[in-house]
Amino acid sequence: MRTAVRYYSKLGNTRRIAEAIADGAGVPAISVTEEPALSEPVDLLFLGGAPYANIMAPELRAYAETLTPNTVGRVVLFTTSNWSRRTVLALKKLLKQKGIPVADEYFYAHMTRIKARCSAATEFAKAQLLKEKL
Ligand SMILES: Cc1cc2nc3c(=O)[nH]c(=O)nc-3n(C[C@H](O)[C@H](O)[C@H](O)COP(=O)(O)O)c2cc1C
Repeated sequence: MRTAVRYYSKLGNTRRIAEAIADGAGVPAISVTEEPALSEPVDLLFLGGAPYANIMAPELRAYAETLTPNTVGRVVLFTTSNWSRRTVLALKKLLKQKGIPVADEYFYAHMTRIKARCSAATEFAKAQLLKEKL
């Protein structure tokens, strides 16, 4: 199964969660600023970002816009924030409108609990991979 982890992170919190997810998924975590589009199709894409002044970064939105049902089988979202889950909700809406399946379940880490949530993020990724294989 082809799996990828992509994220946008201004301050490093989402990057740390992306790296923990990548550990569980056995693939590297790559920033959307490093690789602006998937180089090859994947079955499962972990995609994450945070809200800034209540909206996701334009870089993350632009990345999500590049995805199509031909390039990604299913998306699993993750986010970090102070309180808001808005990034997940907005990405879910955008991806579903494009006909891309998105898991109902997503991973959340509060910005003050990043280190404490890393092992849970790794386990979350492993569980998502198992689901995909069933
Ligand atoms: C300029 C700025 C605006 C923010 N706006 C929000 C917000 O509207 N809602 C929220 O829950 N958190 C907000 N936060 C907190 C970030 O979403 C949180 O720190 C997140 O973990 C940052 O992710 P990153 O380290 O991957 O960039 C904001 C942080 C910054 C720096």
